[in-house]
Amino acid sequence: MSKIVKLISANCGKIRPDSVEDYLNFGGYAALKKAFNMEPMQIIEEVKKAKLLGRGGAAYPAGSKWEQLYEIEESPKYIVCNADEGEPGTFKDKLLMEQDPLRVIEGMTIAGYVFNSHDGYIYIRGEYRDLQKVFQAAIDNAKKEGFLGENILNTGFSYNIHIMTGAGAYVCGENSALLNSIEGKAGRPRIKPPHLAEVGLFLKPTLVNNVESFANIPTIVTEGGEKYLSYGTADSGGTKLICLSGHIKNRGVFEVPFGVTLRDIIYDPELGGGMAEGKKLKFFHLGGQSGPCSSPEQLDTVYCCRAMRNAGLSVGSGAVVVLDESVCIIDYLKKVTEFFIHESCGKCVPCREGNKQLYLILDKLSKGEATENDLALMKRLSRVMAKSSFCGLGQAASTALDSCLKHFSSEFEAHLNKQCPAGVCFTKKESGE
Ligand SMILES: Cc1cc2nc3c(=O)[nH]c(=O)nc-3n(C[C@H](O)[C@H](O)[C@H](O)COP(=O)(O)O)c2cc1C
Ligand code: SF4
Repeated sequence: MSKIVKLISANCGKIRPDSVEDYLNFGGYAALKKAFNMEPMQIIEEVKKAKLLGRGGAAYPAGSKWEQLYEIEESPKYIVCNADEGEPGTFKDKLLMEQDPLRVIEGMTIAGYVFNSHDGYIYIRGEYRDLQKVFQAAIDNAKKEGFLGENILNTGFSYNIHIMTGAGAYVCGENSALLNSIEGKAGRPRIKPPHLAEVGLFLKPTLVNNVESFANIPTIVTEGGEKYLSYGTADSGGTKLICLSGHIKNRGVFEVPFGVTLRDIIYDPELGGGMAEGKKLKFFHLGGQSGPCSSPEQLDTVYCCRAMRNAGLSVGSGAVVVLDESVCIIDYLKKVTEFFIHESCGKCVPCREGNKQLYLILDKLSKGEATENDLALMKRLSRVMAKSSFCGLGQAASTALDSCLKHFSSEFEAHLNKQCPAGVCFTKKESGE
């Protein structure tokens, strides 16, 4: 199996991002033209056949989501593209928006046609300030050339895309918090049900998909769902953009077909290329801070949603942060937990207080002051947070911790005995720094 297949990143670096002319020369808008000659339900069938699993982190089947929304009769319906990309170690939506925004726009326009929606919103994280200008230029040019706006390609269908920006809160990537933020309210999650397909933006039926999910739609429509599925595995169709960072030779965004292994991702010369500075691989963190950490024994796991789930891992956002032997697990988890303390919106107690308590125990471990009781308390706390937090942020905040407790229990034990295998903890105190 080829380890690199360029479907959605094919145009990146090859076209002027806001140029409709370049996009057309590279096959752009063939899908929209084809879609206009299809029934909306036929398009949904292709998305279902493609087994496109949402690329925003939860891997929810896009076809089912589209079908659920289609069955709701109320109108208007809204299309929302989640471009918050707040998950640390994740920068693949940025690549698409920066280098091939018209592909995302085309995907959103096809969704607009399917649901007879006249307004699409893209919620771009505030930190991507410069990118917003590129995206707006692409929208403006698509409008000038008749691919957006009134009476698109003389079909009678009208559709506009509006850019909204976040202010830097990770929780605004959660789909209901994102809608609240677009509405001008505090970016905090809503209670579900009702699901967003029924009560979404401005309380109307709404589709929320990730940037990469939308970018796949033109390929699925052009090539057909079955062909698209064949690029990946039986349960995870197509390709995935992965973001490699950390102690690895080749960092950046790579498009891989589902079905490669984690070993391929980290060691293949065309992908990660192995460890930087010749140090040993200790662990790798998958899918962002809310994802699990994996140990080198799991390197032969197939990278697809089902195999990863069966191995207790997750594809998540596509982030793969590689860490070498110089990293202390406890020290690393302190940083992860600091992130969640900072990003917790404070709405519910398990997340707001739980993360702080986890941090205090990790801090005690790093100072050699923790006991077996602390370790037991930490495990219990993590379970309570996962089960009783109001939204996905708190529910997943201790995923990294749980996976480390499973794979690196000896490192926790070592810290109880005031030893740090990586030589990170205790040394500062001893040298008087
Ligand atoms: C705390 C939190 C942050 C999230 N951040 C993002 C994000 O930055 N981008 C994204 O697409 N999805 C994010 N999600 C997932 C969204 O809630 C939602 O599942 C996704 O946008 C749906 O799109 P998809 O089905 O195409 O993946 C986040 C979820 C949670 C709980
Ligand atoms: S789990 Fe609770 S406190 Fe944490 S972000 Fe979600 S709603 Fe806010």
